[in-house]
Amino acid sequence: MFELFEKLGRDPSNSETFKELMKVTGNHHVTEELLMQKADIEGLTEHRRVHSEFIAKLRTFSPPLDDDTVFWMKKWLIAHVKTLDFKYIGRL
Ligand SMILES: [Fe+2]
Repeated sequence: MFELFEKLGRDPSNSETFKELMKVTGNHHVTEELLMQKADIEGLTEHRRVHSEFIAKLRTFSPPLDDDTVFWMKKWLIAHVKTLDFKYIGRL
């Protein structure tokens, strides 16, 4: 996923990379949510909402993306992994 962000940063007008990024991110979120569900981890509903809001926000963008948008997406992902995903990493 991070490679796709880097690729999009180098070529922000590439709509195929953006589509792939949305697909990979969405799939990653679904997988993570299923693992959370199986592990009976609390906070799944809220976590799912946060994922959905991010994907909904991505759907409002269309290439060519400006630097601020690419930066915001990368920043969101890093912050999300560090703050929310890491809470459960040992339990999945
Ligand atoms: Fe997550």
